[in-house]
Amino acid sequence: MNDLEALAASTEADIAAATDPRALDAVRVGALGKSGTLTALLKGLGAVPAEARKERGAALNAVKSRIEAALEARRAILEAAALDARLRAEKQDMSLPPRPIAQGSIHPINRTIEELTAIFGAMGFSAVEGPDIESDWYNFGALNIPDHHPARQDQDTFYLPGQGADGRPLVLRTQTSPLQVRTMLGQEPPIRIIAPGRTYRADHDATHSPMFHQVEGLVIDRGITLGHLKGCLTDFLRAFFGISNLPVRFRSSYFPFTEPSMEVDIGWNRKTGELGAGGDWLEILGSGMVHPRVLANCGVDAREWQGFAFGMGIERITMLKHGIADLRPFYEGDVRWLAHYASSPLTPASLHEGV
Ligand code: DAH
Repeated sequence: MNDLEALAASTEADIAAATDPRALDAVRVGALGKSGTLTALLKGLGAVPAEARKERGAALNAVKSRIEAALEARRAILEAAALDARLRAEKQDMSLPPRPIAQGSIHPINRTIEELTAIFGAMGFSAVEGPDIESDWYNFGALNIPDHHPARQDQDTFYLPGQGADGRPLVLRTQTSPLQVRTMLGQEPPIRIIAPGRTYRADHDATHSPMFHQVEGLVIDRGITLGHLKGCLTDFLRAFFGISNLPVRFRSSYFPFTEPSMEVDIGWNRKTGELGAGGDWLEILGSGMVHPRVLANCGVDAREWQGFAFGMGIERITMLKHGIADLRPFYEGDVRWLAHYASSPLTPASLHEGV
């Protein structure tokens, strides 16, 4: 038995001395592998005389179990130590400053749309949308701009191949005014809507872009007068620009779809660009009482219903409000420009404007 005890003791010593899983495995192979010391003794069992074989076999198995248990215990210790070392090595320093997170922002155009939607929303208007591609009947004809009307040339129109469901030529809408038509055809009065959206004209310089934005407004109800138009637009302009005594002037003008028509000016200082003071006037939007012919085209009885409409350029009022001189950066996506002019998504439009 002494040889077995010695083998067991020396293997246990080797196991205790193994400091990593590879060394431990080498000890295991040395004892229990194909040509391991204990394996050799087990193989030799057949040569042991029959009367001693049972006892010798039991003793060998006991040593084998002992070595296996020692290996297992040592393996568990080494694994725990390895995990410990790894956790220590991978420790994170929670006091380090985090990398800055790039926060998205609201583009000034979208911010203006949010703001004017909030202001008109408070007056009971809802916002509607329509397609960018229109048949020229929605964009012109129904709005009392017949074929060959000079107003068609004023708005350098992009015509598209093909034709609309109504057989008319297709255009990229040159104005949001077709939403007047779509709304009146789609719902019964009373109506109180605004329609912000993209518009297109073949024009490109520092103050014109082939794609730009307008917002249309339409009110249809009984007994609507010019007074409603003036009050509504004056309140809007003062709320939007945040100047409670902003001078607002209504100047007689012409649009085919309104009668009478008025352009609306606000007071400013032409030299400094300051709004609300300075004695100069700046044209800011078009408006008027909806033309009876437009009402008739849209199936609205002009003897019962009256209304007013207005339309303005979103880039223009945004540039004036924020002192932006050039139109082109609106569409360039330059993050430096956006960092300056875009606003935080966490500031609600209504708070932003105090409306
Ligand atoms: N659609 C006009 C334009 O693009 C703006 C406009 C003027 C809209 C008067 C209106 C309006 O609704 O009544 O120049």
